[in-house]
Amino acid sequence: MKKASQSKNAAGGIILLTAFASIGYAILRYHLLGPVPWKDLAFFTLNKGVALCAFILLTFNFSFGPLYNLGMKIPDSYLNARKALGMSGFLLALIHVLMSFLLFKPEVYTQFFGGDETLSLVGGLSMLGGVIAFVVLWGYNLSFQTHLRDDEKFIQFITSRNFLLTAMLFSLIHVFFMGYSGWLRPNDWHGGLPPISLISFVFFLCMYVINLFGRK
Ligand code: HEM
Repeated sequence: MKKASQSKNAAGGIILLTAFASIGYAILRYHLLGPVPWKDLAFFTLNKGVALCAFILLTFNFSFGPLYNLGMKIPDSYLNARKALGMSGFLLALIHVLMSFLLFKPEVYTQFFGGDETLSLVGGLSMLGGVIAFVVLWGYNLSFQTHLRDDEKFIQFITSRNFLLTAMLFSLIHVFFMGYSGWLRPNDWHGGLPPISLISFVFFLCMYVINLFGRK
């Protein structure tokens, strides 16, 4: 890996643009073209935009290095941005988790619950994936902020290809089980726009393939 010049950092621009696009997409799909009432903008819809933004920033964080290894021209300012993108992605995921806990009721998320108002198998699998993905992300961040960063063997393990490729699968489980039934019914997509879970899935697939071939 080349040593990137430390002076340039594109993190601010990438984060702003991704947040604008993700939240804008959620507003367009659910309010302007969909049936969700505007009173739900501040929490229900924003939660979707924040989740998408977190997801995309994390895929950027994990992909820039491997893309560079694959011979792609990645500017120094993007390589320098990785730490801030990872931390912002993690903090936005934390906001998404807290908002989801407050919203989590059968009346709001019918797709996760069965007739007896307990979690269905598919809802349970999706939430399990989300909880484990979040804890892994938390652990990953902590290892660079605490004395664990001095433990060379541990850092080697947590940044290894095998660990990351396995850990990433939990976020796939989260978005796949919550969304796959709707992905197959494009006629029901609000304004013909694909669901946020499907967009996240596509970002995930790109990141996974890039890491599979580009991470050492
Ligand atoms: C404790 C952990 C988590 C819980 C309880 C949780 C909960 C939820 C819930 C309830 C939804 C449905 C939102 C909706 O349809 O309005 C959702 C969607 C989503 N979550 Fe999570 N989540 C967790 C962790 C994560 C993590 C770590 C990420 C990665 C950044 C993430 C990314 C997403 C994405 C991209 C969606 C799709 C939003 C949509 O399709 O509308 N979640 N999550």
